[in-house]
Amino acid sequence: MTIHNDIKVFSGSSNPELTKKICEYLGIPVGCAKIERFPDGEKIIKCEDDVRGKDCFVVQSGCEPVDEHIVELLIFLDCLKRASAKRVTAVIPYFGYARQDRKDEGRTPITAKLISNLIATAGADRVLAMDLHAAQLQGFFDIPVDHLFAEPVLTKYFKTKNFKHLTVVSPDVGNIKRAARYVEHLNGELAIIHKRRLNSKEVQCGAIIGAVKDRDVLMCDDIISTAGTMCTAAKLVKEQGAISICIGATHGVFADKAIEKLKNAPIDEIVVTDTIPLKPEAAKLPNIKVLTVSNILGEAIKRIHSNESISSMFKCPLGQ
Ligand code: R5P
Repeated sequence: MTIHNDIKVFSGSSNPELTKKICEYLGIPVGCAKIERFPDGEKIIKCEDDVRGKDCFVVQSGCEPVDEHIVELLIFLDCLKRASAKRVTAVIPYFGYARQDRKDEGRTPITAKLISNLIATAGADRVLAMDLHAAQLQGFFDIPVDHLFAEPVLTKYFKTKNFKHLTVVSPDVGNIKRAARYVEHLNGELAIIHKRRLNSKEVQCGAIIGAVKDRDVLMCDDIISTAGTMCTAAKLVKEQGAISICIGATHGVFADKAIEKLKNAPIDEIVVTDTIPLKPEAAKLPNIKVLTVSNILGEAIKRIHSNESISSMFKCPLGQ
């Protein structure tokens, strides 16, 4: 692929492997920048490529350590803006803090909105994100947000499994639309679990609407964080007679005791993408598979650069 030489793609320190793959897709080298620390721990970024008048992209996921990666992104954006980049796009494969998008109780922040404000204030002209926890998050920005989906990569993989008796189970009510789209892509039946979140680490599953007995169950979500949602749902569908259980999610956060829970859950395969680098403990799980979303991100960057449509990359309607 040939692309104009006025494009630069830089990597924050959260996910250099993904940035490398994106640049391979684009056929350009990763932009040169030094990310260092002053003795007191403060970060300093020095952009070593000339970016004056260039279309710049910074790839940074909001994964652990999330606060550090966010501050680094802000510094990177400021650095490129002050170096006279023509346009700066924050490429955020995993948007941390996205789940803090409303006040569930009094005297709490809306941190997703705060982070959005900071990204725009630091100098982003656009944002490119993937599988935001809620599509409405785009409205937290007053700059253009292109919202990508990992679904084509995940469904392509699940098609190769040739499930004989597939039921796509939505592990909670919030995922029904996603599950319905998987049913369309993979020709299965749909079932829904009624989930109740007890706290940030524990969930309780109630009734299942739909049949899972003697079925190959596939459960998909945007994120596996503590894995409470997936593991509790997997136990329930197993108890109700599922033959096999596969789970898929765009963002493999694997927080807290997620790995331990996944080891003990009746799950045959766990599929995530590389929006977040796989934690070493997660890589040891015998049933984990990581798919890359680098081509989707690379294609979107190419299209932003050449003012082509992003939505036409996806067959399913954007915005869920
Ligand atoms: C919920 O709204 C989300 O779609 C996920 O189900 C949830 O955030 C996953 O979190 P955990 O893995 O901690 O249950």
